[in-house]
Amino acid sequence: MATAPATTDSSTTTAAAPATGSTTDPSSSSTVASSSGSSSGMDSSANNTAAMGAGGNGQTIYSSTCALCHAAGVTGAPKPGDKADWGPRIAQGKDTLYKHALAGFQGKKGMMPPKGGNTSLPDADVKAAVDFMVDQSK
Ligand code: HEC
Repeated sequence: MATAPATTDSSTTTAAAPATGSTTDPSSSSTVASSSGSSSGMDSSANNTAAMGAGGNGQTIYSSTCALCHAAGVTGAPKPGDKADWGPRIAQGKDTLYKHALAGFQGKKGMMPPKGGNTSLPDADVKAAVDFMVDQSK
C-alpha cells in the first residue's frame, strides 16, 4: 500500500512557452518584378510596360524584341558579337546608340525602327538592350 499519490508538483512554471518574438516575417513581397516569363512577345500588348523593371534585363528585351532583326542581321542590322560592324557604331558613343535605338535610325544598310518597333517598351529597357548588344560586341 505504498502508492504514493501522484506527485502533483504544482510548480508549473511554464517552461516552454512559445516564443513571443514572431515579429520579423521575411515574406515581404519583392517589389521588383522578376519577370520569369520566357515571353515570345512579338506583339506585346500594352500592359507589360510597368511590369518590367528598369534595366537589368537587357538580354530579355533583346531576345524578345531586338533579336528579330539583330540575331540574324536582317536588313543589315548589326549582329551582337560582330565587332567589325559594331566597332564604328560603338565609336559614336553610347548616347548616339541610345538615341538611334529609341528614336529610330536610317543607316546605310537599313532601317532601325524606333524601339525596334515595340514602342511600348520603356526607354530604360531599350537602353539595357543596347548595352547588352554592345557588351557582346566589344
Ligand atoms: C525591324 C528590324 C530591327 C529590329 C526589331 C531592331 N533593330 Fe536595331 N537596327 C536594325 C537595322 C537594320 C540597323 C542598322 C541600320 C544601318 O546601320 O543601316 C539597326 C541598328 C541598330 C543600332 C545601331 C545604331 C547605330 O547608330 O549604328 C542599335 C543600337 C540598335 N539597332 C538597337 C536595337 C535595339 C535595342 C532593338 C530592340 C529594342 C533593335 N535594335 C531592334 C533593325 C532592327
